[in-house]
Amino acid sequence: MSVNVSEFGSLNDGRIIHKYTIQNKNNVSASVITYGATLTEIWAPDKNGVFKDILVGFDDIEGFIERTDYQGVIVGPYANRIGNSTFTIDGTQYNLVANENKITCLHSNGEFNTAVWNAEIVDDSCVAFSYMSPDGLNGFPGNLKVCVKYSLNDENELKLEYSAVSDKKTVINLTNHAYFNLGGYDSGTILNHRITINANKYTPVDDFSIPTGETADVENTPFDLRNETKIGELIDADCDQLNFTGGYDHNFCINGYDGSVIKAAEVTDPESGRTLEVLTDLPGVQFYAGNFLKGVIGKSGVPMVKRSGFCLETQFYPDTPNHKNFPQCTFNAGETFNSTTIFRFSAK
Ligand code: BGC
Repeated sequence: MSVNVSEFGSLNDGRIIHKYTIQNKNNVSASVITYGATLTEIWAPDKNGVFKDILVGFDDIEGFIERTDYQGVIVGPYANRIGNSTFTIDGTQYNLVANENKITCLHSNGEFNTAVWNAEIVDDSCVAFSYMSPDGLNGFPGNLKVCVKYSLNDENELKLEYSAVSDKKTVINLTNHAYFNLGGYDSGTILNHRITINANKYTPVDDFSIPTGETADVENTPFDLRNETKIGELIDADCDQLNFTGGYDHNFCINGYDGSVIKAAEVTDPESGRTLEVLTDLPGVQFYAGNFLKGVIGKSGVPMVKRSGFCLETQFYPDTPNHKNFPQCTFNAGETFNSTTIFRFSAK
């Protein structure tokens, strides 16, 4: 195990962005930069032991500032969408910045992912990133102290441990927005990858991608991914749900949610054999198939084409503050939010 620190780049105001790389005894490694506490690289072997970087992203800071679609970042204080950019806590209405269609709030108007985080090496397998979100920014109540610990073990598990505490009652929903391509970031689309999602239900959306409030059965729909399914198989099926979003971009309700860390999903690239398992203690996972990626230049000058990466964003359901029937994510002042997500890598 080792942690290596290097300079990644600098912002216009002169602040230096550092990169922390954790490597295990199998030579699997994960790199995270202080800008957005962003995962920038994951090197993992295929079934023949050939290593590739399986994260779609950028190799320069300009990419993360100017061309980003949330590649690899930590999103917060509220990941995903809030309908009409508003919610109410104890009778007080909070109005957020409506950064999408001037109506919805997506990914908290990009707050956490554009912040410079403090980094501290915890030990030779773990780095902790912390940030203080000021009261009222983008409309969210409370000064929110947040920490994300990234650690890697010799079982090729990359663990993300989130904690956050506010001085006002508020909503908290944190995720990582990594785009994976298990064939390597330069290997085309993920349509041939096979996915399994451990969910009998998902949350259908309206044409603004806001949940209708229903939790619907996946049975007999393109959202039945309970058995290994080729991502490309039904992604363009002609149904309202996929037409609204242009492909998979939905929250799945993880079976057996009870607050312990359980398996949510698994994806395999049949060519390389590289496999990703996602485990979490949260109730939902957004499967986003990279439908809106559209050719921006990424690592080594390779364009990110439509669906060249997929995200599995562990989360509370989108728009939870406006749906009392969803598992809730409102925390009292001083009450700590804690959550763990694990990305486990193997090859078969
Ligand atoms: C959302 C997509 C959105 C993307 C932005 C995802 O979490 O579900 O709809 O386009 O983030 O990169």
